[in-house]
Amino acid sequence: IHATSVIATKRDGAELTTPQIDWVVDAYTRGDVAPEQMSSLLMAIVLRGMTRREIDDWTRAMIDSGTRMDFSGLRRGGAVLPTVDKHSTGGVGDKITLPLAPVVASFGVAVPQLSGRGLGHTGGTLDKLESIPGWRADLTTAEMHAQLENVGAVICAAGADLAPADRKLYALRDVTGTVESVPLIASSIMSKKIAEGTGALVLDVKVGSGAFLPDEALARQLAQTMVSLGVDAGVRTTALLTDMDSPLGLTAGNAVEVAESLEVLAGGGPSDVVELTIALAREMLDAAGVLDADPAAALADGSAMDTWRAMITAQGGDPDAPLPRAPHTDDVTAQTSGYVHRIDARAVGDAAWLLGAGRSRPGEAVQASAGVVMHAKPGDRISAGSPLFTLHTQTPERFDAARARLDEAAVILPDSPSAIRPIVLDRIG
Ligand code: URA
Repeated sequence: IHATSVIATKRDGAELTTPQIDWVVDAYTRGDVAPEQMSSLLMAIVLRGMTRREIDDWTRAMIDSGTRMDFSGLRRGGAVLPTVDKHSTGGVGDKITLPLAPVVASFGVAVPQLSGRGLGHTGGTLDKLESIPGWRADLTTAEMHAQLENVGAVICAAGADLAPADRKLYALRDVTGTVESVPLIASSIMSKKIAEGTGALVLDVKVGSGAFLPDEALARQLAQTMVSLGVDAGVRTTALLTDMDSPLGLTAGNAVEVAESLEVLAGGGPSDVVELTIALAREMLDAAGVLDADPAAALADGSAMDTWRAMITAQGGDPDAPLPRAPHTDDVTAQTSGYVHRIDARAVGDAAWLLGAGRSRPGEAVQASAGVVMHAKPGDRISAGSPLFTLHTQTPERFDAARARLDEAAVILPDSPSAIRPIVLDRIG
């Protein structure tokens, strides 16, 4: 088997064999297939697609590139702890993991939330949490197990040995225009989740301008593919199809999203963030076999906040320390009076990234205090000249680019919108 023959097979629209897939994923991980060869193959996969058998093989080859974790022995007070994880396909203002993991853990379920860093216009859960002074993302397996047994929730980075093929492929896809593909996204996410060894998994599949696959039919196909990959691997898997046409909540960035999550944990916060947190918590608790739980009560009575504080403290963070604030802010004001019909999630995500909340090169540091704070949601009335967005950054020379990106982000019309799209569009699985 040679790289060029594997590339030619897919280029010409034929099905890759199991030995071809095993060989190319392994050889690329070891450095025997060059990045330019793998990027050519990836582009052929984006254009030609993959059969379900090829996706199964590709996912298994990525799992086999590393080691599997095992949480089946977790115990508290002698009883076995069920495990359940959530994964989002990536969005703007998607801070849901922050309130969600403590809510679910407060019902006696272990939540091993292996999370990622920002990618393109989407934010990363680890980048957001690192704005909390002292908090660290890297834990040993023993530390993870201890925290799951003692606190119930852990949000941390995946170890280097969890699906290393995906880590390498992901970095390559990010810079070669090959992220947007159902087989590649499904195998990337599910290889990590199956290797992680969670008992149950709830997928939050985003639809709309801020999603990697904005089109609803493709997002649905992605959800169905991931659910069946999970179920076939023995993981109880369901998916919610959720709206990502407008950003979630009123913040996109790092520390600003932590602050908003704290409002939700304190029983307040924007209604869309609360609604999605509760919907996903219900799914996760059902999947873990906890049927009589009321996630809204955990937000109202402070039990989710108690778990959050224990989780942050266990990872070296100070839950009482003030969050970093940007030294420079600038307002973007509404040009006309009327009702907000739409705030384009992609434009807000790009603006937050331009302000320094994300990276332009792998490994670059992000600005903890950078981001966009919104002052209106779809359905709200706004008058000309009042602030629509406040931009936060450490580097004010970035304001112009971010302002330009937000120029047409908000659609304001004289009449109120007849209907606001619901957050949860469908459930699959
Ligand atoms: N998140 C992932 O982990 N992989 C993808 O391909 C897209 C989003």
